[in-house]
Amino acid sequence: MQFWKWGFNLLLISSSFFLSQFSQIFLSQLPQNVVSICSEQDRASLLGFKASILKDTTDTLSSWTGRDCCDGGWEGVECNPSTGRVTTLQLQRPDSDKDSGIYMKGTLSSSLGNLGFLEVLVISGMKHITGPIPESFSNLTRLTQLALEDNSLGGTIPPSLGHLPLLQTLSLNGNHLKGKIPPTLGSLTSLVQINLARNYLSDPIPLSFRTLKNLQYLDLSFNFLSGYVPDFVGQFQNLTFIDLSNNHFTGRIPISLFSLTNLLDLSLSHNNLTGTIPDQVGTLKSLTTLQLSGNHLTGHLPLSISRLQNLWYLNLSRNAISNPLPVIPSSGIPSLLSIDLSYNNLSLGSVPDWIRSKALKDVNLAGCKLKGNLPRFIKPDSLSTIDLSDNYLVGGISGFFTNMSSLPKLKLSHNQLKFDLSEITLPIGLSSIDLQANLIVGSLSSIINNRTSSSLEVLDVSGNSISGHIPEFMVGSSLKVLNIGCNNISGRIPISISNLIDLERFDISRNHILGGIPPSLGMLLKLQWLDLSINGLTGQIPSALSQIVGLRHANFRANRLCGEIPQTRPFNIFPAVAYAHNLCLCGKPLLPCKGRNEEKILQ
Ligand SMILES: *[C@@H]1O[C@H](CO)[C@@H](O)[C@H](O)[C@H]1NC(C)=O
Ligand SMILES: *[C@@H]1O[C@H](CO)[C@@H](O)[C@H](O)[C@H]1NC(C)=O
Ligand SMILES: *[C@@H]1O[C@H](CO)[C@@H](O)[C@H](O)[C@H]1NC(C)=O
Ligand SMILES: *[C@@H]1O[C@H](CO)[C@@H](O)[C@H](O)[C@H]1NC(C)=O
Ligand SMILES: *[C@@H]1O[C@H](CO)[C@@H](O)[C@H](O)[C@H]1NC(C)=O
Ligand SMILES: *[C@@H]1O[C@H](CO)[C@@H](O)[C@H](O)[C@H]1NC(C)=O
Ligand SMILES: *[C@@H]1O[C@H](CO)[C@@H](O)[C@H](O)[C@H]1NC(C)=O
Ligand SMILES: *[C@@H]1O[C@H](CO)[C@@H](O)[C@H](O)[C@H]1NC(C)=O
Repeated sequence: MQFWKWGFNLLLISSSFFLSQFSQIFLSQLPQNVVSICSEQDRASLLGFKASILKDTTDTLSSWTGRDCCDGGWEGVECNPSTGRVTTLQLQRPDSDKDSGIYMKGTLSSSLGNLGFLEVLVISGMKHITGPIPESFSNLTRLTQLALEDNSLGGTIPPSLGHLPLLQTLSLNGNHLKGKIPPTLGSLTSLVQINLARNYLSDPIPLSFRTLKNLQYLDLSFNFLSGYVPDFVGQFQNLTFIDLSNNHFTGRIPISLFSLTNLLDLSLSHNNLTGTIPDQVGTLKSLTTLQLSGNHLTGHLPLSISRLQNLWYLNLSRNAISNPLPVIPSSGIPSLLSIDLSYNNLSLGSVPDWIRSKALKDVNLAGCKLKGNLPRFIKPDSLSTIDLSDNYLVGGISGFFTNMSSLPKLKLSHNQLKFDLSEITLPIGLSSIDLQANLIVGSLSSIINNRTSSSLEVLDVSGNSISGHIPEFMVGSSLKVLNIGCNNISGRIPISISNLIDLERFDISRNHILGGIPPSLGMLLKLQWLDLSINGLTGQIPSALSQIVGLRHANFRANRLCGEIPQTRPFNIFPAVAYAHNLCLCGKPLLPCKGRNEEKILQ
């Protein structure tokens, strides 16, 4: 024993460990049982994995050095201290730096299948680990948790993963896996959580899944799964979460689902489901969110929904649900915060009283055949998004914003609202307002000013009868989308347009705007969409615009522009129609300029 310890210590020294660290290990372990160092087989398996990762910007695997993979220095590796066998391998890129360049690139080495004592295997969020899930993982028979989320793994799910009898969690979401879900996974009777979302899986859910009675969490969303939603899912009494959205499921919603009294979240949106929402929906007494949007559901919304005490999110948009809507008693759905009934077969006429009088956060009733004046909400201060677009609302807007103290998002497009912009005082903090295609008059300066400029990000007032000039823009504006197309706006594009440094979309088409295109427009480096068509713009397209390298769409059609089109990408590869019907534009994609004549014409 003593001899062995000395050997151990020498080994540590020879693998250049800090003296303090080694003496700490030495002293703390002296009175205890033998603490084994990493098994040679496990170390080799881990190094096999390390070797198959060609690039690691997470800077994790660089810590995998030295003889003892169990000494705590190998990031993500945990061992059973008395056996020196690796029990946990957990490499998880933190969610917080989603967009940064932190990733691992390479493949999953089949050598990981030799970690015979592994209980937890998590390699998640590495973005660029490609190739298949190794067959050898079927040898990891002690695994309780297998999570390989958000990599780029391909191929099919190995049927042999069904040989992991202790597996409780299987998460393979966010990869490029295709083919069927292997029926063998039905043997994983300990499974509590299965997440195969965001892959390319097809075919029906295997019948063998009916044995997964311990499931609490089932997420198969964003795949190409087809067939019926299996009736047997309704027997998994411990289910709290079901997301089968964004697949090709057909048929009716099985009645059995409505006996799941522990269910908190149910999403079946964006499938091809038919039939009605059964009256039994009221028995899902724990339900907090219900999402059935984007199906072909017909019939009525059952009154029993008012019994759902915890439901806060109800989204039934884009189905064919018909009148009448039930009259929910004032004590019904007491937790409701968010309701979306947009684009069904509803002719509501007016916003139902029970919706107007609840303290809601989101009210989406687009395309519900609302008529008359804008509704008055009884609890306006709770509202955060309102979408009443595509209705037949008429009249003015004065008073609508009263006490809407926290409304970031408003959409009233495609109605027949008729008012002067000077009548409205936008709520402080409003970030997105869409008033497209109404009968609005007045001038933009009522809504684009230093009161709104720091919060307003999206402004769409296109397709109205707005006149006057484009106002000056202040430093510190946060506008990302400015669409004022198809109005009666005159004057020039102000030079101060350059203050909109966050602008991504700029559309002033179909107005009466004159003068030149200010070169300062070229300072809008985030611009992706530029439409200046059908105005009276003169002069040249400034070469300064070529600084906007991310531009994906530009339209200069039908102005009185002249001179050479900037001969840089993307300007010289936009289609010719983008430049048609001007005075004398030339250069690619139009005909070459003839000498220097154009410059003379310009003067
Ligand atoms: C599982 O382990 C056994 C014994 O070590 C080995 O013979 C077999 O090839 C392994 N299976 C896979 C699929 O790697
Ligand atoms: C459900 O959960 C309960 C309590 O956590 C547990 O006793 C039971 O075994 C689980 N499984 C089934 C199928 O009810
Ligand atoms: C979904 O339904 C539509 C119309 O009902 C049909 O055209 C389409 O083929 C269906 N898609 C699938 C995947 O079943
Ligand atoms: C309802 O679902 C649709 C489609 O899934 C989505 O676009 C919409 O934003 C949702 N509504 C709310 C209020 O979240
Ligand atoms: C739409 O609703 C009307 C009555 O409001 C009904 O007659 C019609 O059948 C419904 N259409 C569908 C597709 O459900
Ligand atoms: C707006 O809020 C104030 C203060 O909370 C209240 O006195 C007033 O009645 C409210 N007005 C409307 C129209 O809700
Ligand atoms: C808003 O801008 C105008 C000029 O456009 C200026 O006179 C006024 O002082 C500004 N108000 C604030 C609060 O900054
Ligand atoms: C367009 O604006 C001009 C003033 O700029 C006004 O004389 C004219 O009547 C407006 N036309 C329409 C159709 O509103």
